[in-house]
Amino acid sequence: MTTLRALQDDITRLHVDAIVNAANSSLLGGGGVDGAIHRAAGPELLQECRTLGGCPAGQARITRGYRLPAKFVIHTVGPVWHGGRQNEAELLASCYRESLALAALRQLASITFPCISTGVYGYPPEQAAAVAVAAVRAFLRTPGSLQEVIFCCFSARDLALYQALLAHEA
Ligand code: AR6
Repeated sequence: MTTLRALQDDITRLHVDAIVNAANSSLLGGGGVDGAIHRAAGPELLQECRTLGGCPAGQARITRGYRLPAKFVIHTVGPVWHGGRQNEAELLASCYRESLALAALRQLASITFPCISTGVYGYPPEQAAAVAVAAVRAFLRTPGSLQEVIFCCFSARDLALYQALLAHEA
């Protein structure tokens, strides 16, 4: 049984096997949570990212965590919000699935997600949270190594959204 929970924190502080980065398709850093993760991990993270050759939206890549408390960083590229009719929900769900699949492949026990696409990429937070929780729950129906999946919210508003969703059984 995997525990699913939400908390409000800076994702770079969390002691988990993997934190997920809301990256862009270059994987070479940016603002928001991406910038915070690169700053906290140190320049070795960018060096490893340079070897990956980018990543399309909806997919994910894994690197080491370097100076972060987390052992690994899973970089995923969320969709830019264009109003909801350009496959945004499917691409966002895919980010969660592909990140979990990489964690499972490495036999990781714990993973933490930020609210992918809801900052610079403009995805409405309420809709994004519903997609995130549904995608994670669907993935976890197949048992694997993961013991804990955490939604790391930066704002109290996001935390309230996740807590409301998680209070209801799947
Ligand atoms: N810990 C946890 N969550 C955070 C942190 C943090 N330290 N900092 C910000 N957030 P965004 P996106 C939240 O814009 O929308 C970058 O430049 C933030 O409040 O970081 O997927 C990339 O390089 C929001 O809820 O990511 C891409 O170009 C969430 O993280 C682009 O932004 C996501 O906001 C990706 O945009």
